[in-house]
Amino acid sequence: MLAAGLAIAVLPSVGMAQAADLDAGRAAFAKCRICHTIAAGAPSTVGPNLHGVFGRKAGSVPDFDYSPAIKGSGVVWNDATLAKFLRDPKTDIPGTRMAFPGIADGTTLSELIAYLRQATK
Ligand code: HEC
Repeated sequence: MLAAGLAIAVLPSVGMAQAADLDAGRAAFAKCRICHTIAAGAPSTVGPNLHGVFGRKAGSVPDFDYSPAIKGSGVVWNDATLAKFLRDPKTDIPGTRMAFPGIADGTTLSELIAYLRQATK
């Protein structure tokens, strides 16, 4: 239910991402950068490297030691699954080791995902 609602709320704005949204998304990513690298070939740090995360199966970066929860989630990352996870990681995937409370604000979340789409390519 929540996932479907979020997908509807998030997807249109992601499709129409403007430069201002990308800047806001980049700013929102400051919270993630503490634990995640994003450039191609960058090593994983506290969390896995996020390069190429769209379309990737959860828990599949080879140099990162994931929780069984992420590995066994069966999730493939896309706009909708990222929105659901990043809104409330521990509720979406109970047992995840990602120590992040989540982003409740729908606008910030869609800006962040629009930025991730560009920056993880
Ligand atoms: C305190 C450190 C920390 C912060 C902050 C953090 N993460 Fe994470 N993240 C992790 C860890 C650790 C994992 C692996 C979780 C596991 O194995 O259960 C993870 C996993 C992920 C995954 C799954 C990746 C995969 O390869 O399956 C995504 C996507 C992700 N984080 C995105 C983000 C984004 C976007 C933000 C900012 C909104 C963020 N994270 C903030 C530590 C963090």
